[in-house]
This record gives sequence, structure tokens and C-alpha cells, in this order.
Amino acid sequence: MSKILVTGGAGFIGANFVHYWRREYPADTLVVLDALTYAGNPANLEAVKDYRNFHFVHGNILDQALTEGLLREHEIDTIVHFAAESHVDRSIHGPDAFIETNIVGTHSMLKAAREVWLTGSGRDHRFHHVSTDEVYGSLEPDDPPFAETTAYAPNSPYSASKAASDHLVRSYHHTYGLQVTISNCSNNYGPYQFPEKLIPLVVVNILTNRPLPIYGDGQNIRDWLYVDDHCRGIDLVLKKGVVGGVYNVGGNNEWTNIEIVRLICGLMDEQFAVDEGLKARFPDAPQVRGLKAASLITHVKDRLGHDRRYAIDAAKCRAELGYVPQESFATGIRRTIAWMLDNEPWWRAVMDGSYRDWLDRHYGKMRA
Ligand code: NAD
Ligand code: DAU
Repeated sequence: MSKILVTGGAGFIGANFVHYWRREYPADTLVVLDALTYAGNPANLEAVKDYRNFHFVHGNILDQALTEGLLREHEIDTIVHFAAESHVDRSIHGPDAFIETNIVGTHSMLKAAREVWLTGSGRDHRFHHVSTDEVYGSLEPDDPPFAETTAYAPNSPYSASKAASDHLVRSYHHTYGLQVTISNCSNNYGPYQFPEKLIPLVVVNILTNRPLPIYGDGQNIRDWLYVDDHCRGIDLVLKKGVVGGVYNVGGNNEWTNIEIVRLICGLMDEQFAVDEGLKARFPDAPQVRGLKAASLITHVKDRLGHDRRYAIDAAKCRAELGYVPQESFATGIRRTIAWMLDNEPWWRAVMDGSYRDWLDRHYGKMRA
């Protein structure tokens, strides 16, 4: 039985990881450490909050003493480190938080792990660092996808901060012998994704009749992976990965942004055609006026330094860990849209900011 500290577990992927892990390993202890920034939402953990072996701690990864205390108190043997500032646009407008959390915060986690696991107990342990394909930079149309051996070339403050954190994690293994693994994953989508990211933003904007902003010409390419398949990849790295190893996790699923947006528009039109009730629930949606969702598509100014193409070569993961994504894009995108339609209160609360009040009312007792 494992005792796992999940940083950033109230965010998108961290929360999905918590749900995944509870389903797969119900006897394991999970301790979530999360600062509840704008991206952290306790509603994401509502379904697990009453389990005996689940603990939520409201706190910052910059607080090394707090992390050390948690590692000791819960006899943690595994850290899965998701906590980060994750949105590229925000890193362009305000890089400081990215340097603080992603670099200094990761270093604080490493120092705590070293203190407790190496200087202290000497127990067998794992520090798994969750990183991104963006550290490798941008691909030309005919370039091969990113392999683990691809040179780092980060282009945004976000990806540069993640690259720096990857190097720190690597160095703590090489210098001190900390038992680390790193995964670099492509774009995730699925339940609980904050609606500032492309896919949930498009769904919410269609339902509320807002423009669908396409940066630049919309020909930028991303490699999309359903979030559970990322969680499964991390599980395999934890169970079968080589200590000190780096693993690229991806979906072999490249789409241009405009293709993705048009696909979602088509699926939303289809939903409104088969489910009459949607018109009553979403009276502002373009379909109510006989318009197509795609009528909302609006080309806007490009993101500064916008990377053109990302794609992951997951051959190492496949060969060494037996990793194969289970969700096809056709089914994953439908599941995601269905989740958004079934969980309207979740995204409404995020949109109007009331998810922050909700947090004070329901989780006051759990906050530091
Ligand atoms: P997210 O922004 O949805 O969630 C981040 C979480 O971290 C939030 O709950 C937030 O409150 C918490 N957090 C932020 N700063 C903190 C701090 N200083 N101390 C404690 N908690 C803090 O992010 P996400 O999309 O779930 O991404 C999770 C991780 O996966 C990140 O490290 C990101 O770089 C990586 N990643 C994301 C994607 C993707 O497509 N979203 C792809 C590859 C890798
Ligand atoms: O590749 C992995 C990365 O994927 C993660 O490391 C990041 O944490 C995650 O945010 C994501 O980064 P992107 O910048 O690729 O994701 P985003 O959803 O912000 O944008 C996807 C693409 O869509 C990108 O080319 C920019 C474009 N876009 C995005 C938004 C929000 C638009 O055209 N319009 C938009 O409104």
C-alpha cells in the first residue's frame, strides 16, 4: 500500500489523478497539497473528500516546512508533483508567479524530499515530476515528434519555468540520489479543465453565445490526450519506470486548432438537434436562433511567441512500460462535452467566480 502526496490535486489533471488512483488503488492513502490558486477548485475533489484515507491540505509548495511535516506525518513514500502555474497566456502577461511556483516551488519540494527521505528516514521513495512537451519548443510541419532525447528549447515563460524545474529534478537525482522520474506530456483534455483552456472555453462559449477566439490563422497543431490516459501513463511510470528516467506521454493525435474548434462546433450542433431540452437550458446558444455554433468563430490577434506544432513520440513509454492510450479522440471529445453538459453548475460557478465563495463555505474547516 502506498502513501502518496499529490501536489496541485485540486487542479485539472491532479484531481483526475486523485479520482483515477482511488478507482485503481482504493486502499492507498492520498494527501493533496494545494494552494487553491484561481485554478484550484475543491469541487473537483467533492467525490473523495469523505474517504478515511484521503486528506486535503490547503497550503503552498513554497512552504518547505509544511511539506516536510506532511511527508513525516503521513509517512509518504511517493510524491506526484502536479502543482504549477499552467496557462501559457497568463505566463506571457505575468511571468513572476510561474518562476515562483514552477521553479522555486519545485525546488522547495525537492529540498523537503531530500531532507525527509535522504537525510532522515532513508526509506525507499519516489518523486515523480509532471512536466510538459512544451519544454522541447516548436516543431516544423515535417519534423519528427518530440522524443526524450530531443534538446530542450522552451519558448514561453511557462515552458521555460517547466524546463528549469525538470533540470532541478534531474539534478537532485544525479547529485543527491533522490529517486525521481519525470513525464513530459502533450495537451490534456477532459473533466474539470479550467475554461481558460481551448476545449472547455469553446464549449462554454457556445453555450453562452460568446465569440470562439482563434489565435492567428488557427493552423497551430497540438497533440491531444484524454486526461485519464495521462494518469494511466503516470501510474505506469511509477510502477515500472526506471529511477532517473524521463518518459514522453502522448496521444499520437495531432489536430490544428481550427479543426478542433470546428469539430466541437459540429458536435454541439448535433447535441442541440437530438436534445430539445438544451434549447430551454441554454437560450442564448446560437442553435436556438437557427444558427450554427461555427458562426461564433472569430480570428483574433495571435499569442506572442505562439509555438506552431507539438507532437509526442511515445515509443519509449510503449516499449518499456506497455503504455497505450485507451480513449480515442472521437469518444474522448464526446465524453468531455457530455461532462460539460452534465456539470453546468461546475462551470457556471467558475465563470461567475462563486466557486471561490463555495470554497470558503464548504472547506473552511480544512483550510490552513
Ligand atoms: P491547473 O492549472 O489546472 O492546476 C494547477 C493546480 O496547482 C491548482 O489546483 C492550483 O491551485 C495548484 N497550485 C498552483 N500553485 C501552487 C502552489 N504554489 N502551491 C500549491 N499548489 C499550487 O494545471 P493542470 O492543467 O492540471 O496541470 C497540472 C500539471 O501538469 C502542471 O505541472 C502542468 O505543467 C502539467 N501539464 C499540463 C498539461 C495540460 O494539458 N494541462 C499537459 C502536460 C503537463
Ligand atoms: O502541451 C502541453 C500544454 O498544453 C501544457 O503544458 C499546458 O499547461 C496547457 O495549458 C496546454 O498549453 P496550450 O497553450 O497548448 O493550451 P491552450 O488550451 O491554452 O491552447 C491550445 C491551443 O489553442 C494553442 O495553440 C493556443 C490556441 N488557443 C487557445 C485559447 C485559450 C486559441 O486559439 N484560442 C484560445 O482562446
